[in-house]
Amino acid sequence: MLNYPATSSFNCQNTRFTPPPGYTLYPSSLTLSSSSSSSSSSSLHSSSQYHQNLPKVIAYKHTHFNISPRTKVLKVRCSQNEPLKVMISGAPASGKGTQCEMIVQKFGLVHISTGDLLRSEVAAGSEIGNQAKEYMNSGRLVPDELVTNMVIGRLSRDDTKQKGWLLDGFPRSFPQAESLEKMKIRPDVFIVLDVPDEILIDRCVGRRMDPETGKIYHIKNFPPETEEIKARLITRPDDTEEKVKSRLQIYKKNVEAIVSTYSDLLKKIDGNRSKDVIFGEISSLLLQVEKEKETEKSGNISKLDSQFNKSASTKENWRGIPTNLNNIPHSREIRDYFYNDVLQATQRAIKDGKTRVKVEINIPELNPNTDVYRIGTLMELVRVLALSFSDDGKRVKVSVQGSMGEGALAGMPLQLAGTRKILEYMDWGNDGAMGTFINIGAIGGRDVDEADDIFILVAPQNAMGNCIIDDLRAMTDAAGSRPVILINPRLKDLPASSGIMQTMGREKRLEYAASFEICYQFRLLYYSGTQYPIMGALRMAYPYRYELFKRINEANGKEKYVILSTFPSRPTGDEVNDAFEGKTRDQVKKASGFWGFLNSILST
Ligand code: AP5
Repeated sequence: MLNYPATSSFNCQNTRFTPPPGYTLYPSSLTLSSSSSSSSSSSLHSSSQYHQNLPKVIAYKHTHFNISPRTKVLKVRCSQNEPLKVMISGAPASGKGTQCEMIVQKFGLVHISTGDLLRSEVAAGSEIGNQAKEYMNSGRLVPDELVTNMVIGRLSRDDTKQKGWLLDGFPRSFPQAESLEKMKIRPDVFIVLDVPDEILIDRCVGRRMDPETGKIYHIKNFPPETEEIKARLITRPDDTEEKVKSRLQIYKKNVEAIVSTYSDLLKKIDGNRSKDVIFGEISSLLLQVEKEKETEKSGNISKLDSQFNKSASTKENWRGIPTNLNNIPHSREIRDYFYNDVLQATQRAIKDGKTRVKVEINIPELNPNTDVYRIGTLMELVRVLALSFSDDGKRVKVSVQGSMGEGALAGMPLQLAGTRKILEYMDWGNDGAMGTFINIGAIGGRDVDEADDIFILVAPQNAMGNCIIDDLRAMTDAAGSRPVILINPRLKDLPASSGIMQTMGREKRLEYAASFEICYQFRLLYYSGTQYPIMGALRMAYPYRYELFKRINEANGKEKYVILSTFPSRPTGDEVNDAFEGKTRDQVKKASGFWGFLNSILST
């Protein structure tokens, strides 16, 4: 295994080059011929199975989720007093080096460019250089192990810890990204410079470098300042049109895996503008990130409203969608994850003064339409919410609808059978919250007490021929301005032969049902008519946008979710399909194939 020497004399911030063997000195008389553009360019909740569930719920007594708002906040990504950590990525000649020069000048970060490091090794004729040379000259990627060791060695030096780092051109393949992830080396922000293919080729072919200063020029765009500099400029051996096309292909083949690794930190920048304009955007982004780190440091995480908070994923330091959601029963971690996710969104909504909200979450164990539905999971979710609000000093009423209908026709939705008893049997902690801060009741006006501060309604639902809406309305009327939270409501009409729901006040019922604002939604998406495999997921956590994810199988038998697009409101089926086909809303006609897919990733 090759080890990059930690004592290498190479200075990343003040790169000096001597033309390495194979590099051509740029003759001052050379003119560029116009380059041609285009590149390749647990059970089913039947009554018998309910009894199977009951011990499960009681077993949960020992997995009591004493989660309070104080302990539940997700970990902050950046530790205190840490300087900026930035990754910059983009196709060949997208302007990474040019922007890095300017970023280093303003922010003083340690610039680590794998291209520069490798070129310096080649120039020095080192073992690494000799191994890398052939790959580089032909425009191929240098083997992962070699580059990774080099970067990790460089990142471990003291200057990066003091000044922060700017990683340019790394990671460039999935194994490289994975190596960093394993070592928990993550940036604060992942910048992608986005430039059209035809422009890239012209930029590469016209690029020249000053071997004395390492400064990057372009024979048309940024000609050298003096004749003297012009005379010593060199052309990189991998900057021929043919090699650029091949480098571009390699970039496109790898970019999806890299972008998806950092989708929660991704910031796409239009790199087809003047370098100063681009730098202006990058600069304000980095200042914003610095400010966010400072705010996190002072404990004030949630109030900063920046251009960097378009999706909940970014804003909440969200951990991404848990994998193996088809494994039933769900692991404790997966359940914890979702309880926490729902809680955070619900708390934000209530803090923002919302009084009529609903949570819709249909992971397999919470989806009554699947045979793996587990009422214990629903009860745990309700307990986490109730305990958390009671920790905040609020008196919580947990309400479960009672029997519907009359006489021999009385009954209740199967999904809710026994729910109230289970709630009563559950472990609510030793601090006496149950019976004081938390009380269990039914759904209806009479169950609203003056002392109640907040109401959590467990899966209120219509039953065939029986409608819960009148009781619900009576309850919300009595609750007035106090918050009412519906967990997995099912308020669609279920017509029966009695005709009740076919005729009477249908529109008003629907309007009332719609008056509850979604504060959390998580839906798994499947190919039409199937429940396997999982195609993706749709998530919305108040107050952020709807995020659409695609599930991807990885080579190692694992899976991951990659963000495809975000939406200001719940996307329609067509919008979801378009996103999966790689079409963005404003580019439905333009985008296709791989780039379409990538564009949609980047347009978040
Ligand atoms: P590397 O040097 O990293 O090459 P690259 O990624 O292909 O990027 P470039 O250096 O070509 O372009 P750039 O984005 O920095 O653009 P620049 O600012 O120069 O890597 C070289 C090789 O090393 C790879 O092919 C591979 O073999 C190996 N390697 C490196 N990292 C590796 C890794 N992680 N794993 C494996 N192998 C690895 O700008 C380009 C031109 O455009 C310049 O002329 C500039 O003046 C001009 N320009 C810049 N901005 C603008 C603008 N806004 N408007 C107009 N012109 C502009």
